[in-house]
Amino acid sequence: MPHSSAPEIRSNVDLSGLSSFRLPARAAELVVLDTPEQLEALPASDAPELVLGGGTNTLFIGDFPGRIILNRMRGLRFRRDGDSVLVTAAAGENWHALVRRCLDRGLYGIENLVMIPGSVGAAPMQNIGAYGVELSDLFERLTARDRLHDRWVTLERDACHFGYRDSRFKSFDRDRFLITEVTLRLSQTFRPNTGYASLAGELERLKIKQPSVRQLAAAVMRLRRHRLPDPARLPNAGSFFKNPVVARTQADELLAEHPELPHWPMPEGRVKLAAGWLIETLGWRGQSVGDIGVYRNHALVLVNHGRGSGDELLALIDAVRRSVHEHFGISLEAEPQLVGIPTSSDLNTGPASIPDPLEQRE
Ligand code: EPU
Repeated sequence: MPHSSAPEIRSNVDLSGLSSFRLPARAAELVVLDTPEQLEALPASDAPELVLGGGTNTLFIGDFPGRIILNRMRGLRFRRDGDSVLVTAAAGENWHALVRRCLDRGLYGIENLVMIPGSVGAAPMQNIGAYGVELSDLFERLTARDRLHDRWVTLERDACHFGYRDSRFKSFDRDRFLITEVTLRLSQTFRPNTGYASLAGELERLKIKQPSVRQLAAAVMRLRRHRLPDPARLPNAGSFFKNPVVARTQADELLAEHPELPHWPMPEGRVKLAAGWLIETLGWRGQSVGDIGVYRNHALVLVNHGRGSGDELLALIDAVRRSVHEHFGISLEAEPQLVGIPTSSDLNTGPASIPDPLEQRE
């Protein structure tokens, strides 16, 4: 094997441009990896390590005292396997660019996942999903460096423990694996998946009964453009809260009082509720703490109006969570990972001073 030199390690690096939420923060060290071999050549560190891809699901609420490993590995391979095609993409590839290249080659099943920001390697972390399709539906396997045992591993779907916006990489094996490539199984036959209510509504509005793949992808992109601001203009991290999944009995009680609350059946008789509806109903759309706000077009999205800080973000999260808990008895969970050390040492004093918009209105 050719000898590969150790990658450059930079110190005291500005992180604001590496995360789509653009909060001000610095890291003690930063390493950029272009190949898997560079990872083997990287000297070990005792400091905490964090792997970053496109930075759309990681927010720095303060400085990071350890080493950031930026995964920039590139490459794409296609291999026919029976009726389907196995697509292997390096972790540093852009997810949306991958979707476009697959569609251009006549490979389907991935079209509802168009325009999701972020990198391929980040996709398995929270099992990205949109409009009725999740990564796990297409997933074949991934290759990763197991940093606990210092060896390369291949993990098939069952070994990844995928759930709704969840996987072992985000839960019980957080920070253990560095994903280097992901393989998806795509179909050469287009079978439109139009079951998701807002997508069906958009196609109906356009009077399209049997969409072509282009029409379907265009409809998804229109919906996404409306609900999610462009991070280049208004920094954000996509959906900020997970849609809560609750027991049937709790859902029934809430639905008796609020029949209009959007909800979806889940495995084991559980029910997923629209967090965006819960937050909007309490009047949070367009509200802000300092420069961090709830997006005016969609209550599940938090935005940074420019000079927002980690402390303002934590205060807004806390205020929204308290308000939803108080009125609906539901505990919302943040979807992106929040990392770094916040500047304020006593976070419990700030949020109490943020008025609940519902109480202001009454
Ligand atoms: N809603 C409101 N008010 C709002 C926002 C939404 O009433 O302010 C209602 C909508 O009217 C709709 C329901 O809530 O009936 C669901 O809204 P939407 O279709 O926009 O989807 P979502 O539940 O807010 C989820 C994913 C998105 C994904 C969309 C479409 C999560 C956390 N988010 O959002 O994923 O694109 O469905 O499938 O599951 C992401 O994870 O970053 C992401 C963008």
